[in-house]
Amino acid sequence: MAGKVLVLLAHPVLERSRVNRRLAEAAAGLEGVTVHDLYETYPTLSIDARREQALLLRHQAVVLQHPFYWYSSPALLKEWQDIVLEHGWAYGKGGNNLAGKVLVSAITTGGPAMAYRKDGYNRFTLKELLAPFDQTAHLCGMKYLAPFALHGSLRFETPEEVVPHTTRYVRLLSALRDGELDLDRATAVDNLADGLDGLISARAGAPAP
Ligand SMILES: Cc1cc2nc3c(=O)[nH]c(=O)nc-3n(C[C@H](O)[C@H](O)[C@H](O)COP(=O)(O)O)c2cc1C
Repeated sequence: MAGKVLVLLAHPVLERSRVNRRLAEAAAGLEGVTVHDLYETYPTLSIDARREQALLLRHQAVVLQHPFYWYSSPALLKEWQDIVLEHGWAYGKGGNNLAGKVLVSAITTGGPAMAYRKDGYNRFTLKELLAPFDQTAHLCGMKYLAPFALHGSLRFETPEEVVPHTTRYVRLLSALRDGELDLDRATAVDNLADGLDGLISARAGAPAP
């Protein structure tokens, strides 16, 4: 299902970011992709529900992009959920405005991939830790994909090292926009960043080159 993509960016100190800032800059250059920086838009943390809901209505896929903070998102994204996903609008009686849209978490973690395993020091997989987002999407009738995760993000010392991941992110956002991502398989995998190309196909009905 093709449609515009909304990236909700939540990073409290973007100027000190090594990874999320670069991902967001690359995303902002894409046609059909809106990057919405929550901390920049709401410096007093006072979220405008109507404005956010109007933005959501104009997009078919929503990407929650943020560093992993204490096994979840930075606080403003939680506040965004509390304020914007209202009963009667996002869920409950008459609350079907998000139904059929796609939700993805694009996350950077300080911990390495091996830490996010049952036998790793974080004891849970990233997918398990993201269960509240998964269930929130489910309640709103949205399809929640596997996370697009970059682990071990603190190891990067130069901008060049981030480039392969930025390239994958652009590919993901473009595929979401163009309806080229196999959504069922993109839900089943552990990490969208691994083997992303295998989840993308030319759009059915698209003209042959
Ligand atoms: C308050 C705070 C909490 C954090 N919690 C986690 C965490 O739970 N798991 C983890 O792997 N990394 C954690 N980190 C590391 C961040 O995920 C990491 O700094 C970030 O992904 C780097 O991305 P950036 O360069 O865009 O800032 C935390 C960092 C901060 C500042």
